[in-house]
Amino acid sequence: MALIEVQDLRYRYPDQQGLALDGISFSVEPGEFVGIIGPNRAGKSTLCQALVGLVPHFYKGAIGGRVVADGLDVHKHPVAEVARRVGLVFQNPFTQISGAKFTVYEEVAFGLENAGVPREEMIPRIEEALRLLGLEELKDRSPFALSGGQMQRLAIASVLAMRPKVLVLDEPTSQLDPEGTGEVFAAMAALCRQGMAVVVAEHKVERLAPLAGKILVLHAGRRVAFDSPRRVFAREDLPALGVAVPPVTEAARRLGWRFEDGTYPVTTEEAEELARKNLVAAGGGGGGRG
Ligand SMILES: Nc1ncnc2c1ncn2[C@@H]1O[C@H](COP(=O)(O)OP(=O)(O)O)[C@@H](O)[C@H]1O
Ligand SMILES: [Mg+2]
Repeated sequence: MALIEVQDLRYRYPDQQGLALDGISFSVEPGEFVGIIGPNRAGKSTLCQALVGLVPHFYKGAIGGRVVADGLDVHKHPVAEVARRVGLVFQNPFTQISGAKFTVYEEVAFGLENAGVPREEMIPRIEEALRLLGLEELKDRSPFALSGGQMQRLAIASVLAMRPKVLVLDEPTSQLDPEGTGEVFAAMAALCRQGMAVVVAEHKVERLAPLAGKILVLHAGRRVAFDSPRRVFAREDLPALGVAVPPVTEAARRLGWRFEDGTYPVTTEEAEELARKNLVAAGGGGGGRG
């Protein structure tokens, strides 16, 4: 069974006319990495919040369809219960750091204390989370002495210590410089390799493409596509929808460099592979010189 199953999800915020989510269906398997892309106001954040039940429990409004997370119907259970299975990381790490703790270590412990996790269980969980996010060396630092990338990794570690089965991240790198962005992407990749399912709303498609097994494209609350990066970025309608494609895909499209299945490369490695084939084909097709 899928870890997250979203069926025909429809949602309207209170006092709003239109639907913020309009008939969304998709699923996430254990260990899968799913990227969510789409222009501003497409519904990415709303969907992230629906996966943990903040929509509708916190935001209220009208909801239809189903969200099942690890067997739990999200609409029928309190957010606290869902949050043990689905961890949510927000855009701005500042808003996520408690501000009440003096060290990185204590910050990760904070959520566990609040959740009433017994002390002897806390220590291995904190250590594991710090290790997975590469924060061991920083454990005695003040959270506010960290770089943006480090702070976002701390926010992820705090969520991870709750041992959710799925991590949902809403544009976790939008406040970060390229270095911090690289750190957070490396962390997400490492967690995925550990078997964690990762769902991330993200604008940086060139970073998403090499990692994501599937990409969900949203526009005006509707699902435009849910497919592999290669198949998604081969779509002709993305620019008109305000959805960016990786620069390497754009270049390949202009050059007419396609794979046999009609898709374009979405990573530099794939572009190199295709370039080699094209060169070989051109060399072979042109015949010998002698
Ligand atoms: N708290 C809110 N109250 C009312 N409407 C909202 C709220 N948050 C988002 N919306 C509306 O829901 C739609 C989807 O927004 P959002 O999920 O934030 O999109 P995205 O994250 O893709 O930019 C937009 O039309 C937006 O104006
Ligand atoms: Mg958003």
